[in-house]
Amino acid sequence: MASSMRSLFSDHSRYVESFRRFLNNSTEHQCMQEFLDKKLPGIIARIGDKKSEIKILSIGGGAGEIDLQILAKVQDQFPGVPINNEVVEPSAEQIAKYKEFVAKSSNLENIKFAWHKETSSEYQNRVMENKELQKWDFIHMIQMLYYVKDIPATLKFFHSLLAPSAKILIVLVSVLTLTCSPLNSKQTNNCLASVTTWMSNRNQCLGQAMEKIWIPLTPG
Ligand SMILES: C[S@@+](CC[C@H](N)C(=O)[O-])C[C@H]1O[C@@H](n2cnc3c(N)ncnc32)[C@H](O)[C@@H]1O
Repeated sequence: MASSMRSLFSDHSRYVESFRRFLNNSTEHQCMQEFLDKKLPGIIARIGDKKSEIKILSIGGGAGEIDLQILAKVQDQFPGVPINNEVVEPSAEQIAKYKEFVAKSSNLENIKFAWHKETSSEYQNRVMENKELQKWDFIHMIQMLYYVKDIPATLKFFHSLLAPSAKILIVLVSVLTLTCSPLNSKQTNNCLASVTTWMSNRNQCLGQAMEKIWIPLTPG
């Protein structure tokens, strides 16, 4: 029987509100904070090696709270190196908030920002059509892959944009049991399974190490 419930993915404002409630009722932000403080510096340790500018692509950057923390870690690791931070984000509302956040934040002098109001697949189509493929030193997709229809094709495309010693970071919630969660566990588990399969195929083809890091998440 078809469900009468509308998907949160088709109602952006409702999704944003649900995600805000989820954040307020879980330890997602504390866990992310711990990840950013303890693990991220190791992950990005080499991305700026021998580079005169560090190019970062944020896919689904939302209102920029996590993005600016990532940028601060990159600045700590590579003091004084100019950063070019581009954001692919389909929500005008989120982009407006991101811009406000940048305007009121300090220590961003060496960072150039650009926002593209489009989904990851619109970005992919545009840069391929216009032959504007460029390489990036760090690409991150934090809590956004749930929205993507063809995850393997998306990961293949963004992986192909990595420069030497670049990294791609994907963050997903693996199991959600919270009633206020914006996602159901089937969606997240399908998403996680696609990423895991893609990672192991890439590792077999390229002999490249891709690491899966578990961050325990509990209700607050
Ligand atoms: C849960 S929020 C995460 C925001 C931010 N990365 C964070 O961790 O705080 C997911 C973001 O992905 C964006 N998004 C939704 N569908 C997308 C797509 N197909 N491509 C890129 N971004 C998308 C949403 O508008 C939203 O801002």
